[in-house]
Amino acid sequence: MKTVLSKTVQSKIPDNLPVIPTMDVVVFPQMIVPLLVLDPRIIKGINDAVEGSKMVLLLAAKKQVGQQDSIGTKDLYQVGTVASIMRLIKIPDGGIKILVQGICKANALSFSSGQETLSAAVEAVEQTEEKENETELLAQIKNIKALAEEMASSGQAFSPDFHLILSKMNDPDKIADFVLSHLNLTVEQAQELLEKTNKIELLNQLYHYLHKEIEVSRMQEKIRSNARDSMNKSQKEYYLREQLRAIKKELGENEEEEIEKLREKLKALPLVEETKEEITRQINRLENTAPESMEAMVISNYLDWIFALPWGKETEDNLDIKHAKQVLDEDHYGLEKIKDRILDFISVRNLKKDSFAPILCFVGPPGTGKTSLGKSIARSLGRSHFRVSLGGVRDEAEIRGHRRTYVGAMPGRFIQGIRKAGTANPIIIIDELDKIGADFRGDPSAAMLEVLDPQQNKTFYDNYLGVPFDLSRSIFIATANSLETISAPLKDRMEIIDLSGYTMNEKVHIAKRHLIPKAVEGAGLHEKDVKFSDAVIEELASNFTRESGVRQLERIVKKLCAKSARSIVEKGKPATFTPKNLTTYLGPKMLRDEDLGQKDQVGITNGLAWTAYGGEMLKIEAVRVPGKGKLILTGQLGDVMKESAQAAMSYARAHADKFKIDRKMFTEYDLHIHVPAGAVPKDGPSAGVTILSSILSVLTQKPISAQYAMTGELNLRGHVMPIGGVKEKVLAAKRNKIPHVILPEKNKQDLMDAQDITTGIKIIWVKKAEEVIEHVLPGTF
Ligand SMILES: Nc1ncnc2c1ncn2[C@@H]1O[C@H](COP(=O)(O)OP(=O)(O)O)[C@@H](O)[C@H]1O
Ligand SMILES: [Mg+2]
Repeated sequence: MKTVLSKTVQSKIPDNLPVIPTMDVVVFPQMIVPLLVLDPRIIKGINDAVEGSKMVLLLAAKKQVGQQDSIGTKDLYQVGTVASIMRLIKIPDGGIKILVQGICKANALSFSSGQETLSAAVEAVEQTEEKENETELLAQIKNIKALAEEMASSGQAFSPDFHLILSKMNDPDKIADFVLSHLNLTVEQAQELLEKTNKIELLNQLYHYLHKEIEVSRMQEKIRSNARDSMNKSQKEYYLREQLRAIKKELGENEEEEIEKLREKLKALPLVEETKEEITRQINRLENTAPESMEAMVISNYLDWIFALPWGKETEDNLDIKHAKQVLDEDHYGLEKIKDRILDFISVRNLKKDSFAPILCFVGPPGTGKTSLGKSIARSLGRSHFRVSLGGVRDEAEIRGHRRTYVGAMPGRFIQGIRKAGTANPIIIIDELDKIGADFRGDPSAAMLEVLDPQQNKTFYDNYLGVPFDLSRSIFIATANSLETISAPLKDRMEIIDLSGYTMNEKVHIAKRHLIPKAVEGAGLHEKDVKFSDAVIEELASNFTRESGVRQLERIVKKLCAKSARSIVEKGKPATFTPKNLTTYLGPKMLRDEDLGQKDQVGITNGLAWTAYGGEMLKIEAVRVPGKGKLILTGQLGDVMKESAQAAMSYARAHADKFKIDRKMFTEYDLHIHVPAGAVPKDGPSAGVTILSSILSVLTQKPISAQYAMTGELNLRGHVMPIGGVKEKVLAAKRNKIPHVILPEKNKQDLMDAQDITTGIKIIWVKKAEEVIEHVLPGTF
């Protein structure tokens, strides 16, 4: 144990001292504090002390005490600090100001308070420190110093030399007093510290307060710097804006002038009153928003769109029929009926200029010239055109546009197209109308109805534009591969024009007159550089493509032209093509059904099917397997096709005697019917006669003639009913080199005027199932 106060100091302290209550402050040893005293009792005590030991006892008043004169001894803390009076100044109204310095802590043992004075019996508090805690004490001192260091390095120190002074101190008491004097503590907190006799506890508490202080000042700094940042940014913006304004002024691009220009432009546009009002509103908004703000950008973008649209700007139609015919013939081979229809349409326009144009819808397999016909019509009328491909469009906004509230909002495809076309009466080619989709983002086909309805498209409303645009001046031409997926109301609005696939003869002509010249030019060649003989074209169309149209043909012709171009570059001479050497340029030929063998086989019949890609020949297979007369159907058949297989089976059973079928076929065998390719879903009733032929072949175990292909619906009484897609199916049979086609008699008128399709193939018209069987299974009955 070691006494902190030197014996000399302690011995100097009198036993009894005048008390000075301190408000809002706890004075610690070593602290120098000025005090203002007004209470005459206390002033008397001070005066007495100045005469003698110059010492007083400073006791802090508890928080709740308000008025100085009413202080009683019970309002004072018991533990205080003995201080010496360093200076005393009388102030005019009777009070005094003193400067005191704390000497040591002391207990007020008892008070003697009379009318005249307030004093107390005093005992100095001896601070003790235990040796074994020395290391802990040192550690805590180190901690405090480190904290002070941290405060200094982050610029949060109480004063610039706070940590410097602290770093030189080693006495725990001095350190405690020094830190204390800097902290911002409440009277209670300070009193608590004053009463602590254990130094380690005291330093712990101080460390805690210091830490808190750092946190608070850090937070303050953060808030301050945030405020500073935002201030700097807006100042910078302001500055830049001013500069921009000055630059614009220099360039003569006054904002007000710009706005005025917009107003002038608007005046000149042929718009209805409401539309003008709406656009004026937007111009006003632009005027009232900060020029470089996001909003201003959105509005001026919008106004860009508005002024870029060809309001009321129409081209005059070229209604010269001769010219039209010439253009149509230049662009397309054949297609006479379609060209005729187009010329009719132009003639009507000649007589009645403002008649509503019917909406033509070209339906047919890919590559039959639907889209390019649309362009051709535009060329013949002298109108601009644009194409809207609806393939895969699922979002209504693609048609009707996005609302402007969207970031990056855009008008729909029709308004975009109008802008590109640059006239208000273009030809609008609506491509792949059958491929339009629908999902949660709305129903695009409903939006299409609006586009195509002459009542509604006069005031077509695009969400982005927000004002109506007249689409009724345009001519709409739609294309589709199939009508199946087009909704009935949409179909009703259009005049459907069928384009069937091309015959070999037509393909050769199309290639010679159109595809090859285009490809030759595209490859940078001269006409004389590449020669395609008819034989080569035929070889290309029959063995290197498999299609109803000429799209693949066009592609491989282009490919061959590129090969020839390469040959010129590498070898100095063009390539020559012969039917024999095509594989060296194009790779192996396409595999065909007839390559698999045109042999007559039991249970295998050539069927004809219609798909969106044109006609297809497919073999329907049947086998018997041991069983109990069940019918097994595979190959992804739809319900209608399954039912027609069952009907065929029932018909066969019902007429088993006539066809000389062994009865045990129905009790000891199951019949399995398969339609390849198994991965492709198939449906429809038109395979009725084909399935029946396969069934009867298996049941009688006689091979079917492979020289026939057939199609036709079958009812239970054995009548052959008409079916669709006749032309495509006949073309498919011809492509597969089948010499005979069996068709329902009721389809006869479908081929009435299709001379080019029917030449080169024998058509057998049938009314009843027996007639089919007579041909393919001769001698069955
Ligand atoms: N009868 C034809 N005469 C000339 N070229 C044709 C004919 N039919 C199609 N084509 C050409 O074949 C290519 C494919 O035609 P496209 O119009 O794209 O077919 P679709 O729109 O029917 O799928 C185009 O280059 C087109 O000019
Ligand atoms: Mg097309």
